[in-house]
Amino acid sequence: MSQTFQTLDTADLAGKRALVRVDLNVPMEDGQVTDDTRLRAARPTVDKLASGGAKTILLAHFDRPKGKVVPSMSLRPVVEALAAALGRPVAFADDCIGPKARAAVAAMAPGDVLLLENVRFHAGEEANDRTFADALAANGDLYVNDAFSAAHRAHASTEALARRLPAYAGEQMRLELDALEQALGHPERPVLGIVGGSKVSTKLDLLTNLVTRLDKLAIGGGMANTFLYAQGHDVGASYCEKDLAETAREIIRLAGQNNCKLFLPIDIVVAEKLAPGAPARVRHVGSIDDEERILDAGPETVERLCRAMNNSKTLIWNGPLGVFEIPPFDKGTMAAARHAAKLAKAGDLVAVAGGGDTVAALNAAGVSEDFSFVSTAGGAFLEWMEGKVLPGVAALHR
Ligand code: 3PG
Repeated sequence: MSQTFQTLDTADLAGKRALVRVDLNVPMEDGQVTDDTRLRAARPTVDKLASGGAKTILLAHFDRPKGKVVPSMSLRPVVEALAAALGRPVAFADDCIGPKARAAVAAMAPGDVLLLENVRFHAGEEANDRTFADALAANGDLYVNDAFSAAHRAHASTEALARRLPAYAGEQMRLELDALEQALGHPERPVLGIVGGSKVSTKLDLLTNLVTRLDKLAIGGGMANTFLYAQGHDVGASYCEKDLAETAREIIRLAGQNNCKLFLPIDIVVAEKLAPGAPARVRHVGSIDDEERILDAGPETVERLCRAMNNSKTLIWNGPLGVFEIPPFDKGTMAAARHAAKLAKAGDLVAVAGGGDTVAALNAAGVSEDFSFVSTAGGAFLEWMEGKVLPGVAALHR
């Protein structure tokens, strides 16, 4: 797939102003970046541009200021952590277009890096407005999109801008697309999917697409309760979207028609309240008291899932199996994550994961490094798994 994009390997970079869309939408607390994964992900592209003698001008959004200047959503506080992650100084301009941006770009030397202020401070960004895209394009000779995680947005800096300048896929973008292609586009089979998280309602498109493309699909987390309920099992006081029971049955039917083997929990971990260290019991599916809630996958379910991994060549994972943030309800997710990581590390499984919760769970299990690929994307990863065209990716095709 990536071969249909222009990459930086073929670009003439010397002295050029490269406008690079990155995703710096990082978690922050008290003005400090608390997870710099996305900042570090920008480094290979910046290194390549700098060593080729280009001037790197970074475009990014932060949070959702909705077209207005919201000082608490400035990108300025990210500069220090970004410079550390890139291993080079980063200058900053208070606006992404107009005289401030122009002056800052004019002051750059080849190899320099400049970050422009939050593109979403201008309403034209989210409107994918042509005039705004022209104003951005005025500061560049070429465009690089390195923000796969923002590519599901048809915004000016992800879409319209790619149509105004010679456009290239950045290194992180290439990595993401290659990994996702390997996991779902042309995977080595059998392919197993794990989809977890609380709501079926947010993952309907995802489940519907996956059952037509995967050989096996394990459903976990709160959404599994809806499937269990749809099969006539009592779910006690568990979170459950009872109105989606028919939809769940439809997904089960669709899986059958497409020869996708569905794995629903066979045993469950239940508790009366969701609190750290709350007394938890393992029960067979269906045998649950009225006041009990299902909060994790049981050991037999996890063991069966691990066996399914052993018999697969590719794994694609989105969403935890239980309430992994609150022990002891993390056990199922942690055990499955460790097993997948072990197989991936041994070269026996291509294991690809994505989505905010999933990545946090893998980090908590300490296994992210051993996965074949962990996407930096949340919503974009989901939309891609749903089979949707991502506007930011489509705009790079030539
Ligand atoms: C993300 O954090 O997933 C991306 O940066 C996209 O952010 P958005 O959902 O605000 O568009």
